[in-house]
Amino acid sequence: MITPHGGLLIQCMVEGDARQSLLAEAENLQKIVLNSREASDFEMIATGAMSPLNGFMCEEDYNSVVSGMRLASGVAWPLPIVLSLKGGAAPAEGERVALLSEEGSVYGVMTVSSVYKPDKQAELEQCYRGDSEHPAAAYLDSLGDTYIGGSIEAADLPSYEKHNDYRLTPLQTRAIFEEKGWNTIVAFQTRNPIHRAHEYLTKVALEQVDGLLVHPLVGDTKSDDIPSDVRMSCYKALLDKYYPLERTMLAVYPQAMRYGGPREAILHAICRQNYGCTHIIVGRDHAGVGNYYGTFDAQEIFSEFGAGEILIDTLLFEHAFFCKLTGGMASTKSSPAKAEDKIFLSGTKVREMLLNGERPPAEFTRPEVADILINSYASPQNT
Ligand code: ADX
Repeated sequence: MITPHGGLLIQCMVEGDARQSLLAEAENLQKIVLNSREASDFEMIATGAMSPLNGFMCEEDYNSVVSGMRLASGVAWPLPIVLSLKGGAAPAEGERVALLSEEGSVYGVMTVSSVYKPDKQAELEQCYRGDSEHPAAAYLDSLGDTYIGGSIEAADLPSYEKHNDYRLTPLQTRAIFEEKGWNTIVAFQTRNPIHRAHEYLTKVALEQVDGLLVHPLVGDTKSDDIPSDVRMSCYKALLDKYYPLERTMLAVYPQAMRYGGPREAILHAICRQNYGCTHIIVGRDHAGVGNYYGTFDAQEIFSEFGAGEILIDTLLFEHAFFCKLTGGMASTKSSPAKAEDKIFLSGTKVREMLLNGERPPAEFTRPEVADILINSYASPQNT
């Protein structure tokens, strides 16, 4: 089984009597409310998905990550994982604080080791190559101007019942891979329904490895991305009919999208390594948004790390499309197709068709997936 990033799978969950004492202690501590991205990060840290992080980043790690994509210890890490203070007095270093959901339930306790003022402009520019229009700008603006870092102890994970059946921790995925006898496992990160191009990447990958983990991101996404519950219905319908179930697994990935392109691809890879995956698919404009990143920047960034810095391997893909000339899915690597041979639909065009109750062509998306999307666009919550 692949070694977790940094060497050890971190476990911050506290159980039994220790959990009861933690909850009792939390009642008398300063309370810090986590926004939904911070709550997702709390879950990822607590279960070891973000190993070697054992808490929210302190100033030294934050600065080192923003400027050099490494933790202060030198371990590769591409993006800040931080907790901000939204108001109230800053706790003292060494103090313990209770971490709460927006509804007021206790997640756990953090021992504060660092209270600091982040340079958000540097974070925006260096991590996201962003400007005021990049989604990271609005997110950073929504945070307070003080970050607090320190290790966490977790009593409870955020609840999102709709995905409970598909919620697996890194310990659980690793155990399942072991049980299935899979030695090589490819992770597929996605924030979209799986269309034919996505399907093609996963199928090509399946030709080379023992198992596929379809691992859709279900944390916060932009408001115009398809909601995770609709996507989950699409994944289930697709996998049931079109995938070899004995070689495929579906589980949710409880992280928020940063739209950080190349740096986020590294984050996606490292976390999948912690889940036990040996490979991750990186296609065109992975985790991209607008025109902030070059089409293959998210592939090229992996070469900025030395041998052994990131253990998970990448399976890289050119732009895939249905090719009318060859009559199948292809990329420029495997087909001499000209522009007119490629079936390409923009996101806007697809949305327009679905809104009108029209199925995009079967070369673009499976009918089962199209029908779920058409129904979701027709339901009152989306109108
Ligand atoms: S992402 O934000 O999770 O990257 P998306 O769900 O669209 O967005 O993509 C999932 C993965 O499929 C990414 O690795 C992305 O690069 C890849 N991908 C999506 N569409 C294509 C395509 N047509 N050709 C090649 N790779 C693609």
